[in-house]
Amino acid sequence: MKHFLSVHDADKSTLEGILRDAEAVEKDFEPCYDGNQVMIAFFAEPSTRTRLSFERAMQWLGGKVLTAADASASSSLKKGETLKDTFRTLSQYGDVIVMRHGLKSWVDEARKYSRIPVINAGNGDGEHPTQTLLDLYTIQRELGRLSDLKIMICGDLKFGRTVHSLVQVLRSYNCQFYMVPAVNQYHQRLGLDPLYWAEYDEKFPGQFTALGVQEAADHLPEMDVVYMTRIQEERMQDVFHERHLMWNMFCLTSKEVENMKESARILHPLPRGKEISEEVDSDIRAAYHERQVRNGLYVRISLLRKILEYR
Ligand code: NCD
Repeated sequence: MKHFLSVHDADKSTLEGILRDAEAVEKDFEPCYDGNQVMIAFFAEPSTRTRLSFERAMQWLGGKVLTAADASASSSLKKGETLKDTFRTLSQYGDVIVMRHGLKSWVDEARKYSRIPVINAGNGDGEHPTQTLLDLYTIQRELGRLSDLKIMICGDLKFGRTVHSLVQVLRSYNCQFYMVPAVNQYHQRLGLDPLYWAEYDEKFPGQFTALGVQEAADHLPEMDVVYMTRIQEERMQDVFHERHLMWNMFCLTSKEVENMKESARILHPLPRGKEISEEVDSDIRAAYHERQVRNGLYVRISLLRKILEYR
C-alpha cells in the first residue's frame, strides 16, 4: 500500500491486517521504533483527535513529527501556493505526510505529486479513511465482529466524511444500514433529497433503509451499532447566512438509550453537537469518548508502521 487516501486503497485483507496489528499494539503499548523517520502533520482544517493521535502515534513509534497545525493560515497556501508545489516541498522534508484540507480533490494532487506516502486525515466532504479504521476497530472490539450488523447512521449524511468512508467498507460485511438524515427547511425548499443515499440504494439495493426521526426511535431496539454525527455547518457556505435554521434530527438522550440492546454500542467520531446529551456519556453502551478515541491511537500506530515499512 502506498497512499491511504481512500478506503479503496486498501483491500479487505489489508484493512483487517491493520486491525489485527492494532490489537497487538494495544497489548504491547511500549516504544519500539528506530527513531529516524519523520511524519509531517499538515492540517489546513481544525482537528483535535486526528492530529494529536497521529502525533502521539509517531512519537510512540520513536519517530519525529513536524507539524503545520493551522496550515491554511500559516503555510504558503495562504500566499497562493498550489497543492502541487506544496507536495513537492513536503516530500523533501519527511517520510510520510498526514494531511487534512477542505478541498475534496486534494487527494488527487497528492497521488500525482507527492514523492512520499500521504495519509488522508480528511478531504472536505469526501472521506476520512483513518476514522473508519478506528470505527471498525471499535466495533470489532466492542461487538466481536464486523459482519451481519444492523447499523443506524444519524445526522449529516451529506457532508459527514466519516460516514462516507465507513459505509463503503461495512457494506462488504453484509451489514444492514438504517440511515437517519438530519433535515432542515433549506433542503425542503430546494427540493433536495434529504437522504442523499439514493445513489447508494440504487447501486446496492436492499442494504439501505431510510428512516425519519420517529421511525428511528421505533427501530432503535433492533440496532447493534448507532453511529451519530454532528451537522457540518462549516461546509454549507451557500446557506451560511441561515446557519441557525432549526434542524430536525434524531438525538439520543437516556430515554432513547434505555430502549437499546445491552450489547449495542453508540459511536461518534466527535466533536459532538446536540445529537447526544451528556447524560448518555456514562452508559456502558457509549463507546465514543474514552474507548473510541483511544482506539484511534492504536490503529494509527498500526497504519504508520504499515506505510513506513513500504518505503
Ligand atoms: C470528524 C472529521 O473531521 O471529519 N472528526 C474527526 O476527525 N474525528 C468529524 C467531524 O468533524 O464532525
